[in-house]
Amino acid sequence: ISLKNYNTFGISVNAKRFISVDSVYQLQQLLKVEKDIFLISGGSNMLLTKDIDKLVVHLNFKGISIDRENDNSVYLTVNAGENWHEFVLWCVENNYGGIENLSLIPGNVGTCPIQNIGAYGTEVKDTITKVEALEIKTGKLASFSNHECNFGYRNSIFKNKVKGKYIITSVSFQLTKKNHQLNSSYGAIESELNSKKITNPTLKDISDAVIAIRKSKLPDPKKIGNSGSFFKNPVILKSHFIKLQEIFPNIPSYTISETEVKVPAGWLIEQAGFKGKRFGNYGVHEKQALVLVNYGNASGMEIYQLAKEIKKIVFEKFEIALEIEVNII
Ligand code: EPU
Repeated sequence: ISLKNYNTFGISVNAKRFISVDSVYQLQQLLKVEKDIFLISGGSNMLLTKDIDKLVVHLNFKGISIDRENDNSVYLTVNAGENWHEFVLWCVENNYGGIENLSLIPGNVGTCPIQNIGAYGTEVKDTITKVEALEIKTGKLASFSNHECNFGYRNSIFKNKVKGKYIITSVSFQLTKKNHQLNSSYGAIESELNSKKITNPTLKDISDAVIAIRKSKLPDPKKIGNSGSFFKNPVILKSHFIKLQEIFPNIPSYTISETEVKVPAGWLIEQAGFKGKRFGNYGVHEKQALVLVNYGNASGMEIYQLAKEIKKIVFEKFEIALEIEVNII
């Protein structure tokens, strides 16, 4: 079966065998007979470069439950196969605050902790209370507290110590019911709200603003295949940054610590001349250089080669080694 509709890059590779599982029990039974599996969830953070010679397991557990609530907070558990953006919209509708800045991020709830999805000043780690996951080796359910997830920028224990060992089955959240901590400090959100003359934003106002910003910058994967930011924003030494500033006075940055700064990879890639460059079926998005796109029938290898070329040129120009964020399969 072709996996084209199961990855947001829209890459057409074949799976030798394929099964969609919709309960933890079904997955536990499956793991008793199959250990060498390839997992696919929302398919929004992967670049497939070859056919998958294994059983592809599509995680499709659905359901949202309210565990408990009080005047201030609601505690929810969401099964891994729920679509992330639909979950965000459901929360906004119910006046549950905390993830409205994360509107329109592709993918499913079960993968949001892996790379600690983040946008417009919010990271999902600040609302996650617990992650439940099946250990592949034993088929047993394990629970990871927020602390145990070891979250960082686009990072967690699921990308490091326990990588490939667990299958996330559900994620639990604590969200606000009142006194929402709205985060509209991000420049683009502020200007979006100002343009609509909104001074006292609601959760929906923030969500709508984020949706408008993302739609104006990021390609819709249903129309143009992509995986969001292809690279991480690199963190470099301040001393390195000061040297670069002498040559490139306009280089943007965010302070990380006394000694480190983060530089937007999109700027580096744009300066390296790649923004909006199209090579037949694939290229670099015209409005956001951090996003590589598949215009039609590109192969994963072609896009991977482009990424390597970008890394090379960016390194030659800035001596910064970009790190790929997307999983290359
Ligand atoms: N920039 C350019 N040219 C570009 C793109 C960006 O010069 O083509 C520079 C500009 O100076 C701009 C700055 O980069 O002000 C920041 O750009 P933007 O606000 O678009 O954010 P980003 O740093 O490029 C990160 C996340 C996005 C997230 C946005 C908004 C990473 C790897 N990416 O991008 O996340 O939506 O911030 O918070 O941290 C994703 O991970 O898939 C993703 C889309």
